[in-house]
Amino acid sequence: MTEIQTTTSKERRTASRLADKFQPVEMPSLEYTDAVARETEPLYQKVKDVIPAIEWPVMAPYIKAINDLKKQRNAVILAHNYQTPEIFHCVADIVGDSLQLAQEAAKADADIIVQCGVHFMAETSKLLNPDKLVLIPDMQAGCSLAASITGADVRLLRERYPGVPVVTYVNTSAEVKAESDICCTSSNAVQVVESFGKDTVLCIPDEYLAKYVATKTDVKILAWKGHCEVHERFTADELLAYKEANPGLEIIAHPECPPEVIRVADFTGSTSGMIGYVREHKPAKALLVTECSMASNIAADTPGVEFIRPCNLCPHMKRITLPKILDSLVELKDEVTVDPLVADRARLAVERMVNLKS
Ligand code: 13P
Ligand code: SF4
Repeated sequence: MTEIQTTTSKERRTASRLADKFQPVEMPSLEYTDAVARETEPLYQKVKDVIPAIEWPVMAPYIKAINDLKKQRNAVILAHNYQTPEIFHCVADIVGDSLQLAQEAAKADADIIVQCGVHFMAETSKLLNPDKLVLIPDMQAGCSLAASITGADVRLLRERYPGVPVVTYVNTSAEVKAESDICCTSSNAVQVVESFGKDTVLCIPDEYLAKYVATKTDVKILAWKGHCEVHERFTADELLAYKEANPGLEIIAHPECPPEVIRVADFTGSTSGMIGYVREHKPAKALLVTECSMASNIAADTPGVEFIRPCNLCPHMKRITLPKILDSLVELKDEVTVDPLVADRARLAVERMVNLKS
């Protein structure tokens, strides 16, 4: 595998806002009344093993207000598997990995999509369903992978490797997607790389995902040096120490982890692949080598599995909170738009991936 790196500047333009077309609404009451307690009790039952009872009176009024406002606004909440349990289990309409969220965004018929995840996910939703108002509760929710490469970088790569197809991980800006032939996620990267029938493919910007793909295919993979700041921190030594201390422990890793970590894992897959593995195999003890909320989200419905948790937090995913989701629905902020000059080309790259037959 060959590694490459170049850098240049980035251009940004603006697009029109849809939010102005919606009616204003009042901020709902956030009192923890008996009625709120009764109505949210079935939701608390879903998360009672991972959210202390003392925290519920603070969360419950937000959860009720968000769920009421979703109906009033005809909004749908898409939440990534890394969202905290009160978001994942109590206000989300659809949860999943990046691919599932993109597929669901494309089909959504609500007027408003609230993306509880990071900015590239919201941008992908906007690309696939451009007539909808797409909101992200915190515009600062970024991603170290998306920040690692620009559209100009991709143009330089194309000059350096003429004729080599460019596969771009969805964890990138629309501007980068626009310069790509097709997108991929961690759940379909091998299939996407092989879909060209070519002997060499650029797989950017995650170096470790590219290295993982290279172990699964005969296609020569050219990589970029981008990394996920959450997954790059895990080490094989630390995981082997946990394995020694916990006989029977299964290590379940995300492909954004360094290769030495993947080598000691019992299973490697996308966030939904990891969840599916735990639900199907029900290991007595599991260590999810990924973001912290994943274990809490699955623990809520896999009581027989003990989770060993040397997890790392994604500071970008953790910017999304119940108060910010409520603000987002009341004030219709922050609206995610995509520069019309890049949107059509970026959409093509995402649609090619979504339409790829499995
Ligand atoms: P998934 O597509 O596996 O959900 O990964 C997205 C992500 O950001 C992982 O860090
Ligand atoms: Fe980006 Fe890593 Fe956070 Fe996923 S976990 S959003 S790849 S920084």
